[in-house]
Amino acid sequence: MNLNDYRMSRRTFVGSVAAALATVWLAPPGLRAANKTLILKTIPATGEALPVIGMGTSRTFDIGSDETTLSELARVLQAFFDNGGKLIDSSPMYGEAERIIGELLSRAEHRDKLFAATKVWTDGEQAGIRQMEESLEKWGIRRFDLMQIHNLRDWRTHLKTLREWKAEGKIRYTGITTSHGRFHRELEEILRNEPLDFVQFSYNIENRIAEERLLPLAAERGMAVLINRPYQRGTLFRKVKGKALPDWAAEFDCKSWGQFFLKFIVSHPAVTCVIPATAKVHHMKDNMAAGFGRLPDEAMRKRMVDYFESL
Ligand SMILES: NC(=O)c1ccc[n+]([C@@H]2O[C@H](COP(=O)([O-])OP(=O)(O)OC[C@H]3O[C@@H](n4cnc5c(N)ncnc54)[C@H](OP(=O)(O)O)[C@@H]3O)[C@@H](O)[C@H]2O)c1
Repeated sequence: MNLNDYRMSRRTFVGSVAAALATVWLAPPGLRAANKTLILKTIPATGEALPVIGMGTSRTFDIGSDETTLSELARVLQAFFDNGGKLIDSSPMYGEAERIIGELLSRAEHRDKLFAATKVWTDGEQAGIRQMEESLEKWGIRRFDLMQIHNLRDWRTHLKTLREWKAEGKIRYTGITTSHGRFHRELEEILRNEPLDFVQFSYNIENRIAEERLLPLAAERGMAVLINRPYQRGTLFRKVKGKALPDWAAEFDCKSWGQFFLKFIVSHPAVTCVIPATAKVHHMKDNMAAGFGRLPDEAMRKRMVDYFESL
């Protein structure tokens, strides 16, 4: 997609700047990185504030019980909480990830900050209920903040259960996910017709299809937006390998390519939170730093796309 396809209207953007200003809060003293502010956005359904950088767990947390790998992941999780992180996203689809999250949460400081998000990924009402109960046990928590229907799978059945669970206080928010640009038409139909609190899909500086319909629709419907695959599973870094970060990245407090990619995403007005995945402490610190300081404005976002496409 080139710049001509870039379709954020000025009106939308001005509104978003006002919203962004309203949601940039001072972080608690321990979290003020170089006197920068932790960036928060609000969940439209309730006005609850969330830090814009969350954490994914696909593949990175799907490991065995090797103590060395576990203790490295424990440090990754601790770096997440220590730098203001709250939202962790997982799924029963991610092998051992939910069990590992549970094991590491039990050792983590500040785990009371957790905003727990997982998914239901099976067919049938009873199987769905069993799977969600198993997930609770694996994470070792009493309730999920957000339960999402993974990849639209048997969504009519699970949506009924999720509404009941929300009414009973067993979950706080309902959501649905897709990725890689799949099922967008069907997802749009669902978003138009069903009240949901969250929607999750892929969006990054290379793959900006979601700007055309999904992001505006989610904003119009008052849904919080989680963004997966912010680094195209890491392939974006290959494209910029050996390339210097432009000097003007400093204008929005950006010191690395990781921060460049994440700040591009969370500066979109409709995006609530992005969920990069990493198994490395230094990458986690890098990712979390994107959640502090200034964000690019509309003109800067265009410049970022231009620059990235020129590489
Ligand atoms: N349908 C769905 O619901 C769906 C689909 C896809 C993904 N998701 C969710 O979205 C999350 C994120 O997507 P993803 O895991 O596919 O891909 P991603 O976050 O775009 O990329 C992950 C890759 O980026 C690398 N990385 C992370 N931070 C880095 C940094 N600062 N510098 C350099 N490299 C870095 C990681 O390697 P290192 O470990 O070496 O850092 C890893 O290989 C998933 O974990 C999952 O929770 C949901």
